[in-house]
Amino acid sequence: MSTPTDAPNPSPAGDRTALARDLVAEWERQQEVYIAYRENRFALMVDLVELVARPADLGRPLRVLDLACGPGSATKRVLARFPDAEVVAIDLDPLLVELGRLDQAEATTGPTWLVGDLRDPAWVTQLPHTEYDAVISTTALHWLTGAELSDLYATVHGLLTPGGVFLNGDYLPARRPSGRVAELATEVGRMREERALTAGAQAWETWWERVRAVPELASEVAAHDAALGQRRENQAPSRAFHLEALREAGFSDVDLVWHDLTEGLVCALA
Ligand SMILES: C[S@@+](CC[C@H](N)C(=O)[O-])C[C@H]1O[C@@H](n2cnc3c(N)ncnc32)[C@H](O)[C@@H]1O
Repeated sequence: MSTPTDAPNPSPAGDRTALARDLVAEWERQQEVYIAYRENRFALMVDLVELVARPADLGRPLRVLDLACGPGSATKRVLARFPDAEVVAIDLDPLLVELGRLDQAEATTGPTWLVGDLRDPAWVTQLPHTEYDAVISTTALHWLTGAELSDLYATVHGLLTPGGVFLNGDYLPARRPSGRVAELATEVGRMREERALTAGAQAWETWWERVRAVPELASEVAAHDAALGQRRENQAPSRAFHLEALREAGFSDVDLVWHDLTEGLVCALA
């Protein structure tokens, strides 16, 4: 992963930290354009981690793995509730990982930030621990194909402590859009997007344009382009596919615990 000193015209560390904080705050608003109840989803995830992993009874720090962490949104919510947790955050994008690292540089037990591709089985070899109480992911796994997801779920099952929990909050389409009800749901999604944009949040494309215009991030933008150039379009697997793939991976109890339009939160117990 690139370091701050790789930037062509490095600015003082404080400036980079302030810049990252600003960009991550805008990232959060930008994501809420598309996921209206994103904060509720995070709160539910953290509640489930607390209930299943029982951090107070562990006798050691809670261990959480955040898959496709982006700039660390889910990681930040976990650390806000459990400041002593050992959180490992991994993502394909070196730029987002660097923003997360700068933004959360002052966390009590800083997260371990890793750059890795979840489609490549070697990502696991980078992990600092072999077992986790919870594995979480938000708004990301729809980028993987069905076959890649099945492999990933088997790996995640192997990484969880017995009875550990996997939580995936993501775009989980119930079925192909057809019929009036599905059209209405799409329409409501668009209305919400318009409302959030009118209230001042940035669209996905606008956020990325802003990042690309920051000279201090030139080397991270180049690393982002190199890493994401290998990614291709994917048809997100259905909600039913995720549930079945998790059962096949060995999870004992799997269900949807929350959904809103096409967004869902899947909870699976190892
Ligand atoms: C919309 S962002 C979500 C980030 C963060 N989890 C959140 O909720 O804000 C999707 C993330 O998935 C990551 N991603 C996509 N494919 C990946 C892969 N194969 N391996 C690791 N990360 C991946 C992207 O780099 C990006 O950070």
